[in-house]
Amino acid sequence: MKVLCLGKLPSPLQERLKTEAKIESVTYVDRAAPLTDTEITAALSGMDIVLSEPQDNLSENILSRCQALRMVAQRAVGYDNVDLEYCNRSGILLSNTPGVLDNATADLAFSLLLCAARRIVEADRYVRAGLWHGFESDLLLGREISGKTLGIVGLGRIGEAMARRAWGFGLKIIYCRSAHKNSGTTEIELDEKDRRLAQSLGARRVSMEDLLKESDFISLHCPLKKETTNLIGAAELALMKNGCILVNTARGKVVEEKALVEAVTKGKIIAALDVFAQEPTVPPPLLNSPNTVLAPHIGSATDETRFAMAELAVNAVLQVLQGGLPANLVNPQIFESAVNKL
Ligand code: GLV
Repeated sequence: MKVLCLGKLPSPLQERLKTEAKIESVTYVDRAAPLTDTEITAALSGMDIVLSEPQDNLSENILSRCQALRMVAQRAVGYDNVDLEYCNRSGILLSNTPGVLDNATADLAFSLLLCAARRIVEADRYVRAGLWHGFESDLLLGREISGKTLGIVGLGRIGEAMARRAWGFGLKIIYCRSAHKNSGTTEIELDEKDRRLAQSLGARRVSMEDLLKESDFISLHCPLKKETTNLIGAAELALMKNGCILVNTARGKVVEEKALVEAVTKGKIIAALDVFAQEPTVPPPLLNSPNTVLAPHIGSATDETRFAMAELAVNAVLQVLQGGLPANLVNPQIFESAVNKL
């Protein structure tokens, strides 16, 4: 088996790949910027297995040119960069890294919220610029967090970790779980999870429309899929309260970026963003606006979490090579037929 690893892999995990007899070679391609389609196709040529990251374009166009490929081990929980339908049709196994990055990502989302509400980035720049001359009662006034309403879009593992943090900070929590746009105010059928969240965190499930209207702060935690692409567009931004802080640590394309730029430029909302529609490109109006806090897709970027993600990916590869079904396989339905070809 020939394995391609896109990006750095901690050395203990490199060692583990070396011990697997079925692995003939591991090629490492480090890259600061995303590879072009030509570069990624060339790197994948003749490879049986690839360890990929969110910036690696594994669209049908690319995958269809890599006939040897049997497995994609994505080092992320989101796998919107990989064409899952093509993988299913072509017998390519896909694994991801759920569960190990919930706290790190929720920590970053909450940090972005605090940064925006308390103007921390601005305050840092102010001090460094030598502008601070003494205590002033109205210097860099921000917004109180406690007692306000946080709307969480997407209540999976990361959304729930965000809700726990919000509860600790005394926020009121509302959320919506279905990704449907225009879900309107039709009756929501609460299930066991909703009852648990209501009881433990006082969290209330609402329609998307109510969430947009009632929230002082909104944090996005849904995966990027067809149904969530541009979930937040001009109409949704217009429904938000003036000055609403919108935190996005999910995927840039969940928000229609053009509409976001307009809302930020007009001062309608404050955007605290870790993800962008065309990473690493950040639209200049977002760079230049005082109404943004920006980070370079570092939601899960702690030593511990990034190691755990890489370890999950390596474990999945080794398990598959030994004929086992990894728990983090995205398409277990093709496992039996695909594993025979390895
Ligand atoms: C990171 O963006 C991830 O999806 O894990």
